[in-house]
Amino acid sequence: MTDTVASLMAEIADVGTDPSRGGYSRPVYSTAELDLRSWFVEHAERRGLDVQTDRNGIIWAWSGGVGEGAVVTGSHLDSVPGGGAYDGPLGVASSLVAFDRLAERGVPGRRAIAVFPEEEGSRFGLACLGSRLLTGAIDPDRARTLTDADGTTFAEATRRAGLDPARLGPDLETLARIATFVELHVEQGLGLVDHDRPVAVASSILGHGRWRIGFTGEGNHAGTTLMSGRRDPMVAAAVLISDVQRLTRRVPDARATVGRLVPTPGGTNVIASHVDVWLDVRHPDDAVTRILVAEIEAAAKAAAAEQDCTVVITEESFSATVDFDPVLRDRLADLLDDAPRLGTGAGHDAGILKDHVSTAMLFVRNPTGVSHAPGEAVEDADAETGAEALADGLEALLGAS
Ligand code: GLV
Ligand code: MN
Ligand code: MN
Repeated sequence: MTDTVASLMAEIADVGTDPSRGGYSRPVYSTAELDLRSWFVEHAERRGLDVQTDRNGIIWAWSGGVGEGAVVTGSHLDSVPGGGAYDGPLGVASSLVAFDRLAERGVPGRRAIAVFPEEEGSRFGLACLGSRLLTGAIDPDRARTLTDADGTTFAEATRRAGLDPARLGPDLETLARIATFVELHVEQGLGLVDHDRPVAVASSILGHGRWRIGFTGEGNHAGTTLMSGRRDPMVAAAVLISDVQRLTRRVPDARATVGRLVPTPGGTNVIASHVDVWLDVRHPDDAVTRILVAEIEAAAKAAAAEQDCTVVITEESFSATVDFDPVLRDRLADLLDDAPRLGTGAGHDAGILKDHVSTAMLFVRNPTGVSHAPGEAVEDADAETGAEALADGLEALLGAS
C-alpha cells in the first residue's frame, strides 16, 4: 500500500497523547519521541534509505549515497507540552512521501531526510538544540549542562538515548554534506487561509529569544505571616507579567509571552521562596527586541524591589531575524504556481541552518491558524498537496545540483 501523509500521520496519532493537557507531549528523548524516531527509521529503512544518527542525535536518511552536495529536507518529532499533531511531524511525514514521489518519477541525485532533536526546547529550554549543536551555534559544554524539570542533564539524556555526550558539538563534515535544506511545516497562522491557497514559501522568521527571570523572597506560612511582613516573589512575578503585556502592546509588531512560571516550593498554603518566570520576546527588528527586553528587565527589578525581593535575569537564547534567500524563495514560489511568500513568527531549524547552507521553507495551510495547542489542524488534501509541492521543489533542486 502506498503511504500518504494522512496515513503516516494516522500511524502516530496515539503516540505521546497527553490526557491532562490535551494534544501531544513529546519531549526530546522521552518514550514518545523515541518511539517516533523508531517509527521514522523503520519507514526510512523500508524505503531502502541509508539511516545514520549523527553525534548530535540528528537522524539522517540518505538516498544516492552519503556525501556532499545533498538536497536535504526534514523537520522534527518533538513537541511543546500539550502541542498539536502537525508541528514537526507533518514535515517528517511529508518528506517520506516526497521521497516516494521522487523515486516513482525516477529522479536521480543525492538527497536526505533529517530529523532534528529538541527543536522546541520544551525539555531543556533551548530551541533548535540539534541544529545549534551541528552548526556550532551553542557551546557543547553549555548544552551538556542544560537540565530538564527533573534535574536530568542533556548529557545524561543523550547518554540514555545511546549517544556519547562527549561527542556533542559542531560537525562541519556533516554540515558540508548539505547543499540545500528545505523544511516543510504546518503554517502557524491564517496567512494561507486569507490567500485561499494550500502552500506558501517562507520569506522570513521573526527574531526571538528566551529569558529566565528568577525572583527570590522569603518562604513562609500562609496563615501566620501578616500581609505587611511578606517578601512574596509570586506577587513580583504577577506584577511583571502584567507589565510585560502593557510594555509590549506599545510596540508595533512585538510579541511577548510568559507561558511558564514555576514557584518553589509550590504549596497552596506556602508563600513561595522563589519564582522562575520564562519570557519569550519576538520582533522583526532585533534592536527593538533588545530595547523592549531592557524595559521588561527594568520592570522586573522594580517589581522585585516593591516586594522586597531580589531578581536575577538570564538570557537563555536569542535568534536574530532570518530573511530566507530571496532567489531560492522566488524560485520555489514560481515553481509552485506563484505560491504566496509568508513570514512567520515561529522559530525553526531552517532558521539556524540558513547561516550555513542555502535554505528554504514551505508552509501548509492550517484552517484554524492555531499552533502549539491541540487545535492545530491540516486538511488531508492540503497535506498531500504539500508533499507534492515538496517533491516538486526537491526535484528542481536535484536537477540543479
Ligand atoms: C518554536 O516553535 C518556536 O517558535 O518557539
Ligand atoms: Mn516546528
Ligand atoms: Mn513549534
